[in-house]
This record gives sequence, C-alpha cells and structure tokens, in this order.
Amino acid sequence: MSEKKVPILDVRNLNVEFKVQDGIVKAVNGLSFKIYDGEIVGIVGESGSGKSQTMLALMGLLASNGRTYGSVKFLGQELVGLSTNKLNKIRGNQIAMIFQDPMTSLNPYLKISAQMTEILILHKKLSYKEALHESIRMLERVKIPDAKNRIHLYPHEFSGGMRQRVMIAMMLLTRPKLLIADEPTTALDVTVQAQILELLKELRQEFKMAIIFITHDMGVVANLCDRVNVMYGGWLMETASIHEIFTNPQHPYTKALLESIPSIDHEVEKLRTIPGEPPNLLQLPKGCPFQARCQLTSNNCSEIIPLQRVNPRHVVKCTQELGVKL
Ligand SMILES: Nc1ncnc2c1ncn2[C@@H]1O[C@H](COP(=O)(O)OP(=O)(O)O)[C@@H](O)[C@H]1O
Ligand SMILES: [Mg+2]
Repeated sequence: MSEKKVPILDVRNLNVEFKVQDGIVKAVNGLSFKIYDGEIVGIVGESGSGKSQTMLALMGLLASNGRTYGSVKFLGQELVGLSTNKLNKIRGNQIAMIFQDPMTSLNPYLKISAQMTEILILHKKLSYKEALHESIRMLERVKIPDAKNRIHLYPHEFSGGMRQRVMIAMMLLTRPKLLIADEPTTALDVTVQAQILELLKELRQEFKMAIIFITHDMGVVANLCDRVNVMYGGWLMETASIHEIFTNPQHPYTKALLESIPSIDHEVEKLRTIPGEPPNLLQLPKGCPFQARCQLTSNNCSEIIPLQRVNPRHVVKCTQELGVKL
C-alpha cells in the first residue's frame, strides 16, 4: 500500500484507561496506526495486550469505567468524543464488527430473517420484501446452503461456523468500508477456520472493504493479512508487511510469538509459550513493557522507546541493535 494514499482509518496516540479500585489500568498506550482502503491488517498479541479494547475504544463501546484519549479519524472524521447519535450512524453501517462468539451480536430469540431485514429496513430504507430478498442473496454469498429456507431459522439452529457466516452476511448488508473481526475463528476447528479466512479474502475483494483481523495466532496472520501490528502491554511493538514480519522480524517479542505458531505436524499441539507473565497494566514499567520477559535486555530498556524505521514498510519499537538500518 502506498503511504501517500489517504487512510480510511488514522489512529494517533490512542490511550485507553480504566479506573478500578486499585488505580488506573493502562490498557492501550500511545497507539498509532493507519488502515488503507481494501487491505487486511492483522493485530496480533497475547491475551490482555489491548487488542479488543483498542477496537472497542474506536467504536465508542468501552465499559463505563473506560476513557479514551487521542485521535481516531475514520474517512477524515474524528470519532473520539463524537456523540452516540453520530457514532450510531457509523457503527454497524460504515464500520462493522464481528466477534469470536456471534451470539454476542445475534439475538437468540429472533429468526435470522427478522434480524437481517431489520438492518436493511433501518439503514437502507428497503421494504420488507426487498430486504428479505437482499438478505437471502447475502446468505448465499457467504455460502449458506439452502439460504432461502434457512433464513427463517433461529441462530441456535446453525453450527458454529455457519453462525459466523450468518454474522458476516449480516455485517456486509450495509456495505461497510471497514470490517473489524475480533478473533472470529478462534472457537472454530481448523478446517472451518480455513474456510472462513478464505471467505473473508474473497469478500474484501468483492466489497472493496478493509479488514482489521484481531488474533493471537501468527499462523492466521500469515494466511490472511497484508500487514500486521504486533501489540504487547497495550503498546505497538512492531508493524510490518507480512513478508517482512516472517522473513525479517525485529522485535524480541515478535520473534517469540513466531516461535509459538502451532505446528500441524504434531497431533498434540506443542506450543513454545513465552516464559513469564504479561505486565501489570496498573503499574507498567518505565520504557519497554516486554523487558521483564525479554532475552535481549540491556540498560536502555527502561528508557522511552523510540520507533525505529527498518524500511518504509517496517517499524519497530526497541532500543536494541537488531540489525535495524536507520
Ligand atoms: N472494564 C475494564 N476495567 C478494567 N480493566 C479492563 C476493563 N476492560 C478491559 N480491561 C483490561 O484491559 C486489558 C486489555 O484487554 P483486551 O484489549 O481485552 O485484551 P486482548 O488483547 O486479549 O483483546 C486487560 O488487562 C483487561 O483486563
Ligand atoms: Mg480480545
């Protein structure tokens, strides 16, 4: 992607904090990244690294003890501080989001037909008949067999994989410019996961939308994404094209994540997990949040970490001499 293009999403110095009894949880810290039209960007990091809260913050959906600071521009419009009314016009319309468990967004008591047509009637002002026709077409597009009849079923009557397809179809009804997918395949078995990833690749071409794909799995990133942002302790540690991250990883944390990709050769997945614990977000260390678990620590690690450019498609946040050409 050319850097000169206007990004559809431009996140600058985003911070997310939660007030709790013991103090302030610093869940996202000084995060900046851009998403361009039509690209698939992975956000990868261990559990608790701030991936979901980043996305909820930009959608204005944080829990009530959460605060967002910084700037999130979607197609040039600032989202931080926007009224709920205005955000509602963007959410679920121009920006859509899918989750690990589709049931967080699907209503268990309503037939799929009712849930899908409602969106089109509300956002596109279609009649029920037109909305039903369009909804069936969308279910067919995401390869739900016998969509014409199955649209009249309830969510629980679909398998996990099919339910995620229904969710995707529902999100695409308004033709969003950006789809945020938060671990949508984590609960699915490997074969179904691969099918959903394939479907998402086809859909981004067809619908010309960008996708942010959140995962803790570098294998999924390799399969699907054009670029990746690596997060740890609420910080962006490294951002690079997929080719760069796999052939020339720089950050010790990225390297550790790459070593934890499950091998399909092993029947029982043996992951090399990264030793140590994630940082305490109530009391982040000065400097690099990964220093306590890093194999390459030096005296510089407690300094404010500069972003270093490896090349135009690759930036890393580390004070180490990592073969970085400045
Ligand atoms: N309402 C809340 N109050 C306090 N801490 C929170 C709240 N919501 C999330 N957090 C904390 O924010 C951190 C980042 O969470 P999250 O973004 O969900 O991680 P992940 O990378 O696994 O998606 C976690 O340590 C989590 O406990
Ligand atoms: Mg999460």
